[in-house]
Amino acid sequence: MSFDFKVKDLSLAEAGRHQLRLAEHEMPGLMSLREEFGESQPLKGAKIAGSLHMTVQTAVLIETLTALGAEVRWASCNIYSTQDEAAAAVVVGPNGTPDDPQGVPVFAWKGETLPEYWDCTNEILTWPGGEGPNMILDDGGDATMLVHKGREWEQAGGVPPTTDEDSEEFAVFKELVRRTMAQDPKKWTTIAEGIKGVTEETTTGVHRLYELARTGDLLFPAINVNDSVTKSKFDNKYGCRHSLIDGLNRATDVLIGGKVAVVCGYGDVGKGCAQSLAGQGARVIVTEVDPICALQAAMEGFQVARLEDVVDQADIFVTTTGCYDVIRADHMKQMKNKAIVANIGHFDNEIDMAGLAKIPGITKTEIKPQVHEWTFENGNSIIVLSEGRLMNLGNATGHPSFVMSNSFANQTIAQIELFTKTDDYAKQVYTLPKHLDEKVARLHLDALGVKLTELTKAQAEYLGVDVAGPYKPEHYRY
Ligand code: NAI
Repeated sequence: MSFDFKVKDLSLAEAGRHQLRLAEHEMPGLMSLREEFGESQPLKGAKIAGSLHMTVQTAVLIETLTALGAEVRWASCNIYSTQDEAAAAVVVGPNGTPDDPQGVPVFAWKGETLPEYWDCTNEILTWPGGEGPNMILDDGGDATMLVHKGREWEQAGGVPPTTDEDSEEFAVFKELVRRTMAQDPKKWTTIAEGIKGVTEETTTGVHRLYELARTGDLLFPAINVNDSVTKSKFDNKYGCRHSLIDGLNRATDVLIGGKVAVVCGYGDVGKGCAQSLAGQGARVIVTEVDPICALQAAMEGFQVARLEDVVDQADIFVTTTGCYDVIRADHMKQMKNKAIVANIGHFDNEIDMAGLAKIPGITKTEIKPQVHEWTFENGNSIIVLSEGRLMNLGNATGHPSFVMSNSFANQTIAQIELFTKTDDYAKQVYTLPKHLDEKVARLHLDALGVKLTELTKAQAEYLGVDVAGPYKPEHYRY
């Protein structure tokens, strides 16, 4: 079998395969979906373009999708988040060798440039024989954006000129679309027509989808995987509770106990981050714009303050907002010497890296890859992780397998749902029904030795629910 792919080094495949084997043991949700659907092959005929951090856990997801019959092409959704050994293992596949790869085409390596990143995203949407995919599995919405913007600009007769207002990334993105349009002026229009739907992993990508639906511009149905309870209340919270500290430790090995840490944003991710920093003995200060989340933080015992008022007191800063310009250059100038500045939100604009680079007299020293010391004219410096991109994947290896098994079981179920019941869905954004959310949780109970109490028939009637669930109304918030 021969196919195109681009990864760092196929000789890493064996190391990757060992890690995949251990991850499979920690991913009971995905493994039981393989058992349940392996024979019936519900994804046969699905051609999935996946744009999601190419980690060991994602490798188990990819091999679950193929075990259910799908064909897959994969890229990472961040330039730093690929684990090269996982990418190699997926390309080689369980039965191949580095000389005879038999797995899945992956286009991802750790440390891509921005043009390389967008080329990889283009690759997953460009199938052999000039076809496109019929499904997208997205994290952050970049693959979906490429199809939407590409089509929009094709219909408008060209890509708008690049201006000084464009970020570096948007300029690179426009360049890619210009190039693809020069090769085939209808590429994105054709691809968009062939797509049955997208399943979206994260808060930021979901925002983009609801915006497209609101303006009537969404080109195909979407399932919001993020807002399954077994995703956002687990991955975003408990996943970040684990991987924030992992990233800080691997990047800096600084003792967290006794330090003052500012967590910007107290949503699901912020809650996990604040808890883990407090668990290490840090004194945590939260910043929020939402009075409900601010009150929640206060009730948990965290000081809630404005960044301006505490910026010169803290040792560690973490942004978790999904917003932009949260930590600005003038904030960073006022920070304590050697303060650590990190972002765990999806995009790199929460910390104003462009503004930091423009401060007169500033210098940048690489301590090691993805760890940089920025020194101001007065000799003080700050340590910025992963160039302001999500540090739990840039400086560490993202969330652990067990929590990702929940997220990816939702992804797999959502792919099956949209692919097999396409006609039931309009061009809107949907969440999975509660019984499937409960099913994902159920798949993870045995592994933790959880014994559920069963309602009696009379108790179920008293509560007005079915003995087998769902147990909560749609409006319940967990
Ligand atoms: P969320 O919406 O639950 O929380 C964000 C919070 O930030 C909200 O409470 C909001 O009020 C607050 N906020 C917004 N602007 C702010 C500002 N300027 N200052 C202070 N607070 C502000 O979203 P969630 O699920 O916590 O996700 C946050 C980000 O993390 C998103 O970009 C999401 O895609 C990303 N994410 C990253 C993960 C990772 O592994 N690194 C995992 C899951 C999500």
